[in-house]
Amino acid sequence: MPQLFDAPTVIRTKRDGGALSDAAIDWVIDAYTHGRVADEQMAALLMAIFLRGMSDPEIARWTAAMVASGDRLDFSDLRRDGKPLALVDKHSTGGVGDKITIALVPVVMACGAAVPQAAGRGLGHTGGTLDKLESIPGFTAELSTAQIRQQLCDLGAAIFAAGDLAPADRRIYALRDVTATTESLPLIASSVMSKKIAEGTRALVLDTKVGSGAFLKTEAESRRLARTMVDLGTAAGLVTRALLTDMSTPLGRAVGNAVEVEESLEVLAGGGPADVVELTVALAAEMLDAAGIDGVDPAETLRDGSAMDRFRDLVAAQGGDATRKLPVGAHTETVTAPRGGTMGSIDALAVGLAVWRLGAGRSVPGEQVQPGAGLRIHRRPGEPVTAGEALFTLYTDTPERFAGAVAELDGGFTVADEAPPARPLIVDRMAS
Ligand code: URA
Repeated sequence: MPQLFDAPTVIRTKRDGGALSDAAIDWVIDAYTHGRVADEQMAALLMAIFLRGMSDPEIARWTAAMVASGDRLDFSDLRRDGKPLALVDKHSTGGVGDKITIALVPVVMACGAAVPQAAGRGLGHTGGTLDKLESIPGFTAELSTAQIRQQLCDLGAAIFAAGDLAPADRRIYALRDVTATTESLPLIASSVMSKKIAEGTRALVLDTKVGSGAFLKTEAESRRLARTMVDLGTAAGLVTRALLTDMSTPLGRAVGNAVEVEESLEVLAGGGPADVVELTVALAAEMLDAAGIDGVDPAETLRDGSAMDRFRDLVAAQGGDATRKLPVGAHTETVTAPRGGTMGSIDALAVGLAVWRLGAGRSVPGEQVQPGAGLRIHRRPGEPVTAGEALFTLYTDTPERFAGAVAELDGGFTVADEAPPARPLIVDRMAS
């Protein structure tokens, strides 16, 4: 006889610190996906999970239920030159200035792998690959499965909105974004892994962020998140690896939507900020290794222009024109140096919140983001600063947002007498 559930009882169980049974998890995810559990009930349950946490078995079941809420893609029949595709993807747990996917996917394509990437939108103070790429005129991430398959065979990548994959995650993700429930290990792990298990990749590299701009604030929690995701991926049959990477400082010199695409084009042209290039190449090497491809140097694809060619092909296949001018916010504001010296720390969380306030992210579900909203960092930690010079330029179409953004930056950076100690960008690596 089927067990009957109701949302208040499920919420109360977790609110009071109890464990959710497999059947309760299956029920609540299915009922929410089909509109039988209301947003306010799921929001209450998410807050209870945020506050009480979940055991590993609960996380595994919640993830499996989200995978089962929609389609699961399978590309194992696809061939190029008579051989199965070397399917590999990467996913980040969310960062500030984290534009890595934009150059990384073409690098890995140019090295012979195939990337089926279900990408996300901005979440909390962190940006989303889809919001960034949609700032390219004409670009669409709404791809049919047939188009994804065609692009994987012909080009070696597709970057798409999750669509019918893990629809429970799509709704929960949007709800978390506006209910202050993003910063939860079980909710991050299940959100990332449900999409990645459903998207049909065979190998996966997880860029797990550590530091103030990461959702989880301590290195110990980020390590636990990486281990949880690697174990979930491995149990689902994916070759899964994780890099732990620094997110105490924003990546690169551009944070926002179109400004991050612009910086990615610099990387693809063989230039760009050293940290963005280093992380792109490190993640590419890890992805190629996980996919079983050796003997190629991902850095060479940035030098010889082959990654740029793949990027243009990919954008064109998805309706975009990478040669058109990118949008830029109609209004600008600068934050200047209060004194001379050396740029000290730049807090990733403060910058992420400032950019969100400029209109690059959402405060209500489904809100349109501003493609031209963002911020440029003129001095990175350790660079010399002259009193009064511009340290940050802020962009938005709605200038009434400047005051809030500038307030977020207040106290979010330092100008010091000496350069701050350098932090390693790649903190650690984990495999199954
Ligand atoms: N990326 C996701 O897909 N989900 C999260 O919760 C965080 C980062």
